[in-house]
Amino acid sequence: MGKIRTAVVGLSMGLSHAHAYKRAERSELTWVVDLDEEKAKKVAGELGCNYTKDWMSIIDDVDAISFATPHHLHAPHAMQAIEAGKHVLIEKPLANSEEDCLKLIKAADVKNVRLMIAYIVRYLPAIRKLKEAIDSGKYGTPINAQGWVQGNLTPAPGSWFSRKETLGGGVLFSHGCHYIDILLYLFGDPERVAHFGTRIGTEWMEGEGTSQALIQFKSGVIANLNSSWGIKVARPPAKYQIHTTTGLLQVENSMLKVEYITKEGSEVIYERPADFENFPGRNVLYEIEHFLECIANGTRPETDGVEALRSHRTIWAMYESQGVPVNL
Ligand SMILES: NC(=O)c1ccc[n+]([C@@H]2O[C@H](COP(=O)([O-])OP(=O)(O)OC[C@H]3O[C@@H](n4cnc5c(N)ncnc54)[C@H](O)[C@@H]3O)[C@@H](O)[C@H]2O)c1
Repeated sequence: MGKIRTAVVGLSMGLSHAHAYKRAERSELTWVVDLDEEKAKKVAGELGCNYTKDWMSIIDDVDAISFATPHHLHAPHAMQAIEAGKHVLIEKPLANSEEDCLKLIKAADVKNVRLMIAYIVRYLPAIRKLKEAIDSGKYGTPINAQGWVQGNLTPAPGSWFSRKETLGGGVLFSHGCHYIDILLYLFGDPERVAHFGTRIGTEWMEGEGTSQALIQFKSGVIANLNSSWGIKVARPPAKYQIHTTTGLLQVENSMLKVEYITKEGSEVIYERPADFENFPGRNVLYEIEHFLECIANGTRPETDGVEALRSHRTIWAMYESQGVPVNL
């Protein structure tokens, strides 16, 4: 197979996709696209590719497209691309409704194209090592997992990410979805879920800006995720702490180190090597290499539409679970 001709639509988060496609052996970055033509021109100049503001006008010139656009555009754009026979890598979420997710999954199967969600965290070396460590059984049986996602977004009233209809929910759906996906990846299917959200401190958002999500897995493991876009001073102890029957598995905030800690001492399970080469799009390149490999080999991406829907359904069930009044 020759080089896969790639395009990126939406050049904020998508800028990292463009850098990664430029680097990837299997790809020829052919087009970058943004409604802001100046932005697209600048990126095209830096990366040596074509640019346009109208992605449909270049569809015949590409094999695969990354969409890094506002959430409400994911479903209609991905559907158009799939129907044109293109492979699609879509930033999270896959779509804002279950119905749209199911339509996309079916269309990709009918057209025999790869549909993948850009769950960047899944493909990070630290998370792969954490999964291996848990599955090995060497570090005890997981009991309780906690995760922290703490950010402070500049208030943007009226923006697409302030409105529920366009964002698809609040911080949990938009940002927490990565970390709910990781919990499902590590511990399997959930048995039951709960959720509380608040808009205090993020009143510019229609959905919750701060969230506490709870899961009990079928295995019995319990987990909670604390996500916020309204944290003034972030001091999370880690990205994840997983208490097991023998000790504590901890993923550092930067996700560059994983440790196993017991009363006797600690063992480093993963640490980014000192001679690690960093460059724009480094973390996105892990997922993009997987996407391109799946296209080349005709295999299903690990984070395909079905896997995306699993994590989205978990969050939708959390949203449905909230709001039960206490009758004192
Ligand atoms: N994985 C991550 O770490 C991460 C981080 C940030 C954002 N994201 C995801 O990336 C996506 C985009 O988020 P963002 O923060 O970059 O949004 P943004 O609003 O900052 O940027 C979106 C870009 O898309 C362009 N755009 C919008 N509609 C377009 C269209 N029809 N054609 C071409 N260009 C169009 C806009 O001009 C803008 O440049 C979302 O799905 C978001 O959840 C992921």
